[in-house]
Amino acid sequence: MSQSSFDTRAFRSALGTFTTGVTIITAQAEDGTPVGITANSFNSVSMDPPLVLWSLAKNAQSLPVFNSTDHWNVHVLSTEQEALSGRFASRGEDKFAEIVLDEGITPAPLLHDCTARFQCRTVFTHDGGDHLIFIGEVLAFDQSELPPLVFQSGQYAFTARKPRETPRLTTGTPAPECGYTEDLVGYLLGRAHFQMLYQLRQQQSKTFKDKLFYILSVLIVRDNQTLQELNGYIGYTGDPVTQEDLDTLETEGCIVAEVEGGITRYRLTGEGRDISLHQIAAAKAVEEDLLAKLGPGDTLALKLLLKRLINDSDPGLPDLWSTPETIGDTQ
Ligand SMILES: Cc1cc2nc3c(=O)[nH]c(=O)nc-3n(C[C@H](O)[C@H](O)[C@H](O)COP(=O)(O)O)c2cc1C
Repeated sequence: MSQSSFDTRAFRSALGTFTTGVTIITAQAEDGTPVGITANSFNSVSMDPPLVLWSLAKNAQSLPVFNSTDHWNVHVLSTEQEALSGRFASRGEDKFAEIVLDEGITPAPLLHDCTARFQCRTVFTHDGGDHLIFIGEVLAFDQSELPPLVFQSGQYAFTARKPRETPRLTTGTPAPECGYTEDLVGYLLGRAHFQMLYQLRQQQSKTFKDKLFYILSVLIVRDNQTLQELNGYIGYTGDPVTQEDLDTLETEGCIVAEVEGGITRYRLTGEGRDISLHQIAAAKAVEEDLLAKLGPGDTLALKLLLKRLINDSDPGLPDLWSTPETIGDTQ
């Protein structure tokens, strides 16, 4: 391939498919000034001796410092550290402003709350075209439970682990004629939702139908609603709130109706609040048990995908979770 026909953009794009973690690599200048850059060129090299490598662009402002010191630290970033990655990938700002450092075994700055850290000493540098390759011996390392941040094709990502025992995917036999399979997302979402609710129902002391719990849950976030407003939050379920539902909750002592200017609004009573809080605590307990099996990284990936799906399918529901002022502003 001749140099002139080489498509750098396509090359970068093809390289970007190689999915990596994200690190920040830090060092300290002789005058004590800390430097650091975001790098995904980090890789393992050798187990014995323990060696790692990474490459630094020759036009990086931090190059003279990495060239003049033997010590640097590699921080494998967690999913919580995307903003930090952005900060260390940009030039001209004080990257270390307000960052609390841990005590390392060398002068190189040691960041905390990372997925893993490697404290290293340069053993070789190699010319690597427009980059300089650093190979370092690992002097110390540590690891946490925090799930790692991922970088793929120019975007941050989270990983979902593939279980060793792969769940049946697309192998389920479709029902004859209709193509209904166990892989339909609607089926998967519904099944997961109802199975979680089923577990929750086993723990409920109050035997309300689900919709009455939904009403109490909306009122605990946003009290003092009309029937119509409640339906703005609940009607999309296909089982709208009726006057009869509200009357039942009132008879049970969970809500009170207040009429002002001819408009009837519903408020939670102390009893209604207690039932709702109990229900939410039970739901959290069920969720915690199930999510502990997924682990923090998969949980995050699941939530992210569900939120994307919710956004993409939103029929224009009022935002239950925004502050009341914001809702007022948009009305
Ligand atoms: C995800 C990601 C990975 C990066 N990987 C590298 C890398 O491996 N080597 C490098 O020199 N720059 C890499 N960069 C770019 C540097 O972080 C960026 O140029 C930084 O501003 C250099 O800092 P400095 O000029 O202050 O030394 C990466 C940026 C991002 C966002």
